[in-house]
Amino acid sequence: MKRVLVTGSAGFIGFHLAARLLADGFVVQGLDGMTDYYDVALKQRRHQMLLQNPSFAATEAMLEDAGAVRTLVESFAPDVIVHLAAQAGVRYSLENPRAYIDSNVTGTFNVMEAARAQKVQHLLMASTSSVYGANEDMPFCETDKADTPLTIYAATKKANEAMAHSYAHIYDLPTTMFRFFTVYGPWGRPDMALFKFTDAILNGRPIDVYNHGEMYRDFTYVTDLVHGIRLLIDAVPERPADPAGIAPGDSLSPVAPYRVVNIGNSEKIRLLDFIDAIEDCLGRKATRNMMPMQTGDVPATWANADLLKTLTGYRPETPFQDGVAQFVTWFRDYYQK
Ligand SMILES: NC(=O)c1ccc[n+]([C@@H]2O[C@H](COP(=O)([O-])OP(=O)(O)OC[C@H]3O[C@@H](n4cnc5c(N)ncnc54)[C@H](O)[C@@H]3O)[C@@H](O)[C@H]2O)c1
Repeated sequence: MKRVLVTGSAGFIGFHLAARLLADGFVVQGLDGMTDYYDVALKQRRHQMLLQNPSFAATEAMLEDAGAVRTLVESFAPDVIVHLAAQAGVRYSLENPRAYIDSNVTGTFNVMEAARAQKVQHLLMASTSSVYGANEDMPFCETDKADTPLTIYAATKKANEAMAHSYAHIYDLPTTMFRFFTVYGPWGRPDMALFKFTDAILNGRPIDVYNHGEMYRDFTYVTDLVHGIRLLIDAVPERPADPAGIAPGDSLSPVAPYRVVNIGNSEKIRLLDFIDAIEDCLGRKATRNMMPMQTGDVPATWANADLLKTLTGYRPETPFQDGVAQFVTWFRDYYQK
């Protein structure tokens, strides 16, 4: 399996994944619509970095353009598709829900159609810890019910999981859905806390801390995350011959080559400790603007990553202090601050 199509290749995770796959000798085709949800120059810069490798090619197209997606998949003939392009962001989904339906529901459908027409060997797609919604039992396991999404973002990702299961069942399309937990690191997203806090502290602006700081996240370092993805590419789900033989804790479907896998650090970090780490790296204190809980937000996330470990032998391990330091070094260098 040497040819991989990565959608969202100009995005934060897609960029890191493409770079990792190129380093491992894969031929990578990127697809990205360069949406203006955040700074397009940052996306262009990521693509420019990847294009230095002759085994990478980039196509600019929107997922909603079914013809463009199908033509690209036909001409590139990937063995594997890793579908990461999406309208991301929990809070923005309250402002512009339609963008999530268009990119995540219609767009993902177009990717699935192209994948099954091409008969790819493995389709891997991004879901999110947000599908655990209002669940309170922690850490979150893939086999837990996930029927209470709190935002349209979470709902579209849950819809993607259901859509993918049906295609895996009908077309025997091996499919893995990742549930990512708050990913952070160099080249990160400007709409996410680490980027916003670093930028605000360096520019003397206050930072908004929601739920009065009583927030916990399972922060996952991007290099660990893409290592997990890289290993899962080879863990192709197979339709079980005997559903009774599915191991406890395995989310494998009884009727399809389909599985959901958490990729998280398996550590619940207090947001205030995360902010302390940013301050330590910057050598400056933040002005903390304590705010109430936001609609649609959850107070905590925490991954059970045992299934990832069982399937790949790997468990993410970067301590958040180290990951924050890597981010701050990149940020200061990139923005010359
Ligand atoms: N970063 C996280 O913490 C996190 C957590 C959970 C899940 N995820 C999921 O992981 C995936 C990657 O996230 P990311 O953090 O790299 O986000 P990102 O916004 O940096 O990357 C997404 C990329 O997809 C592109 N895109 C968006 N809509 C498109 C469309 N309709 N057509 C074509 N391209 C489109 C964007 O231009 C962007 O470059 C997403 O599916 C996201 O929902 C991310």
